[in-house]
Amino acid sequence: MSFNEVYSGKRVLVTGHTGFKGSWLTMWLLSLGAEVCGISMDIPTAPSLFEMAGLEREIEHHIADVRDLDALALIINSFRPDFVFHLAAQAIVSRSYQDPVNTVTTNVIGMACMLDVLRRCKWPCIAILVTSDKAYENVEWLWGYRETDRIGGRDIYSASKGCAELIIHAYYHSFFRDKGSTVRIGVTRAGNVIGGGDWALDRIVVDCMRAWSDGGIVTIRNPTATRPWQHVLEPLSGYLWLGRVLLNRSALDGEAFNFGPRTEQGRTVIEVVQALGRQWGFSNDAKIYQVVDNAPFNEAGLLNLNCDKALFHLKWEPTLSHEECIRFTGGWYRSVLKEGGDARVLTMAQLDEYQGLASHRQRIWCKGTL
Ligand SMILES: NC(=O)c1ccc[n+]([C@@H]2O[C@H](COP(=O)([O-])OP(=O)(O)OC[C@H]3O[C@@H](n4cnc5c(N)ncnc54)[C@H](O)[C@@H]3O)[C@@H](O)[C@H]2O)c1
Repeated sequence: MSFNEVYSGKRVLVTGHTGFKGSWLTMWLLSLGAEVCGISMDIPTAPSLFEMAGLEREIEHHIADVRDLDALALIINSFRPDFVFHLAAQAIVSRSYQDPVNTVTTNVIGMACMLDVLRRCKWPCIAILVTSDKAYENVEWLWGYRETDRIGGRDIYSASKGCAELIIHAYYHSFFRDKGSTVRIGVTRAGNVIGGGDWALDRIVVDCMRAWSDGGIVTIRNPTATRPWQHVLEPLSGYLWLGRVLLNRSALDGEAFNFGPRTEQGRTVIEVVQALGRQWGFSNDAKIYQVVDNAPFNEAGLLNLNCDKALFHLKWEPTLSHEECIRFTGGWYRSVLKEGGDARVLTMAQLDEYQGLASHRQRIWCKGTL
């Protein structure tokens, strides 16, 4: 009864479907019986979960730029999605320093183009728009950010996500709210996610796996920085559940929701590297990392999300413990990179295990009704 079977037989558009989160989301939607259409500019990494899992054969796969309004309109108007999950973005913080304009146009103009197509929709549609925890103005405090906190950003990636939020807000009030629109909108802000099948640059888990599978050691820059680690399936359960809830809760139309781990799940970079090392099979005294002090760009400090709003309105809360998150993530890479496991089989097995744990722990989206 996950999500009350609402996705079964539905047409679902996923932008950014070839990326890390998009590949997991596409697989989850396919397993729920959805007909999936994907729009991405490219397959951003080699290898990629998208290709390893052979997803292109199972969906309507489009290579297009979300900044191309006409191309976006053509695809959306012919597919006529019941649900849209807009994930496409320039999502790599380090790249935003190398190519700021591309980051801004993709994340801001791309969002505007999506909203511009949606505002002309004549059929009922739920759109889940993905920004980031980095959309908040980071004032380096220890408390979790709430949905009412200020949007901002001192680096380009964060600012681009903050701008995307402003664009959503303006479009929503100009064209959707009380304007007879057939589209309902949910805005989602999640933090850094980890999990098997990510191959993007400058992400600590990926750096570990690349280094260790090449027989090397990983270089880390901020060993004592604490991050709110969460498995990729956690925010995805929130996105899917928000889509389901918006179907019959018009009062939540246009609302933003944080989806993050519990505060006690925060760990330092070094703790996570060591835990992943144990998953990989290293002994406790093995030298598996080196610390360097040459950060190529400024990284924001502590940034936690307060998820009380998701708990209150959606009854959503995370499912996995930190240890389970590490086991899922490290186990995936060990199996695929060291033991020759099949990425698709493993991903589906983890999806099943995750849903089993969520059901056992009585997560609301497994029951299907609020
Ligand atoms: N991964 C994280 O830790 C994290 C954390 C917070 C928010 N997010 C957000 O979640 C979403 C997905 O992140 P991810 O980690 O899967 O990203 P990713 O880098 O793995 O994938 C990005 C996807 O966007 C597509 N894309 C990029 N530019 C495009 C364009 N101009 N037109 C069409 N498609 C384009 C790529 O082809 C790819 O499919 C992004 O919006 C990202 O900002 C991610």
